[in-house]
Amino acid sequence: MVPWGRSYDEYLAMFSLSPENLGLKILGCGDGPAGFNSILSRRGGAIVSVDPVYAFSSEQIKERIDATFALVLEQTAGNSDEFLWETIPSVEELGRVRMSAMTEFLQDFKQGRAEGRYVAGSLPRLPFRNREFDLVLCSHLNEMLVVLPQAELFSQTG
Ligand SMILES: C[S@@+](CC[C@H](N)C(=O)[O-])C[C@H]1O[C@@H](n2cnc3c(N)ncnc32)[C@H](O)[C@@H]1O
Repeated sequence: MVPWGRSYDEYLAMFSLSPENLGLKILGCGDGPAGFNSILSRRGGAIVSVDPVYAFSSEQIKERIDATFALVLEQTAGNSDEFLWETIPSVEELGRVRMSAMTEFLQDFKQGRAEGRYVAGSLPRLPFRNREFDLVLCSHLNEMLVVLPQAELFSQTG
């Protein structure tokens, strides 16, 4: 497991989320250690994140972050010409943004899991009722970036 999570602002930008979108009941699929759930919940949003990594404790996830973070950045630096450095200008800044998002997640995880905002589960079978959410967000899961109404996601995955 190599935890790698994006920030609230990155979620807003990559999904082009409007204030109306943020008022919907959202499922974040494969959110991992992203900071989106934590900040949106604090701002009054209704979001549940589902990811297999939530079966682990925050201590175990932090251990994996500490064990893999430097290596991921080192590999990114080795392939830096394959990335566009427009929004995030450098590998060092990328590290700061990612670590800040993952720290935000770690600080929220225990309470969020107790509140049912972080649910352990995996595609293709998710532990939710049909039409339980208005909007499903799923990013960087097998290099996929999609925004689908729930009905489409469930029909695609069976
Ligand atoms: C690269 S991380 C991306 C995290 C977050 N979406 C983001 O953009 O910051 C990919 C995540 O997908 C999760 N994942 C892998 N297989 C999955 C599956 N079958 N169902 C749901 N999540 C899965 C991983 O545990 C990991 O947290």
